[in-house]
Amino acid sequence: MKVEFPKTFFWGAASSATQAEGRLVDDGKGENIWDYASKEYNHRFYDGVTTENTSLFYRDYQQDIQKMQDISFNSFRTSLSWSRLIPNGTGEVNPKAVKFYNHMIDELIAKGVEPFINLYHFDMPMALQEKGGFENKEVIQAYKQYAETCFELFGDRVNYWFTFNEPMIPAEAGYLHDRHYPYVVDFKRAAMVLHNIILAHCEAVNVYREMKLAGKIGIIMDVIPVYPRSQNPADLYAAEMADLFYTKSVNDAILKGQYPARLKEVLEEYDQLPEVTEADLALISATSIDLLGINYYRPRRVKAKECLPNPDGVFSPEWFFDEYVMPGRRMNTSRGIEIYPKGIYDIAKKIQTEYGNIDWFVSENGIGIEGEEAFIEEGMVQDDYRIDFLKEHLTYLNQAMKEGSNCLGYHMWTFVDCWSWGNAYKNRYGFYRLNLATGEKSVKKSGVWFKETIENNGFD
Ligand code: BG6
Repeated sequence: MKVEFPKTFFWGAASSATQAEGRLVDDGKGENIWDYASKEYNHRFYDGVTTENTSLFYRDYQQDIQKMQDISFNSFRTSLSWSRLIPNGTGEVNPKAVKFYNHMIDELIAKGVEPFINLYHFDMPMALQEKGGFENKEVIQAYKQYAETCFELFGDRVNYWFTFNEPMIPAEAGYLHDRHYPYVVDFKRAAMVLHNIILAHCEAVNVYREMKLAGKIGIIMDVIPVYPRSQNPADLYAAEMADLFYTKSVNDAILKGQYPARLKEVLEEYDQLPEVTEADLALISATSIDLLGINYYRPRRVKAKECLPNPDGVFSPEWFFDEYVMPGRRMNTSRGIEIYPKGIYDIAKKIQTEYGNIDWFVSENGIGIEGEEAFIEEGMVQDDYRIDFLKEHLTYLNQAMKEGSNCLGYHMWTFVDCWSWGNAYKNRYGFYRLNLATGEKSVKKSGVWFKETIENNGFD
């Protein structure tokens, strides 16, 4: 049986500025929160490896884009670095950054690779973080100006724009779960950050519309589909709450133009409601996107809470559900997460039934593996596990498309093994292996397989 995709399907991979470019502060780049955390908190990164250690896309972009063409990508997503382009977050634009991004975009187009450009992938300029980052409403205006600058500079050639990658993560990881700088643990502050990110998204979309550019604009969400342990009402309640906090809160705001009423009720009950004005709600309700990106890595299995939370502890969505370790679940033990290819089908169905069957694409999906050097034979990583992973997910995606889902493409995470926010290089995700000692980038077996898949619009 052939799993066949439309000829117009977008095939490629995703990456981000901080994870791939390399810091090169002396080329006019300002500091962002990752550069700062790299200096001050380097124990928080796996093996102490920080943002200085990237695949140097900033220097090698021409060879890298050639490598994309070598495996037949027709599209590629990366982000612009706000602090490279506008070193202080507001004000002067760095001409060297403009030159770099112009060359990068032109090179992608010249090689037949459609640029998908994202404005923000977790990397707040430090000068703005010092003013409170997205807790501070002024930063929304700074982000709006940054977006407008990007649209002015590159909007003539970029047809696909994204305002944020995973808007939930800066709020959740930075203000609740102690994973990203500023390592705050405070639900109400996290909720404020999330709300302000949603407002910043709306402002950018509206600026883009006002500029009457010809492309499309959207956002990239991380969606973790939730599955209850059983149909027992207590387990169902746990699932409802996990979904409400981690998915519906953002998805409903962006795709339905309003926060779920249930969320407001719960937050009011626990005195956790951030400051939200009528004008904010009007802005959210008046904004709509053209294209949705979905990052999918894993499911979330939950069960009813076994112990009551400590009422004096920090309020958290985890007050309402416990993680459920399903017997026999299939794990990616390197990353400690479950592999569940059908999740991609379930997400597609939800977009179709709950969110108006909007145009969307898989903006990230992939498998991070520790110790991939053990799989090198004849100079190539023989990552059959990655090929299997891709085939299974693509097969479910294809099924959903046959049932009417408007999925326009599939981007793997990631192109070349890249540095990651806490895990650094612990788990390798790329189609190309990065040799950290020499900087050499060599294609893996999955890259060769992906090339054939793109050229055949599918696989057997
Ligand atoms: C995604 C992020 O959620 O997960 C990427 O958008 C990140 O930036 C990827 O690198 C993999 O994360 P990790 O923590 O497994 O390296």
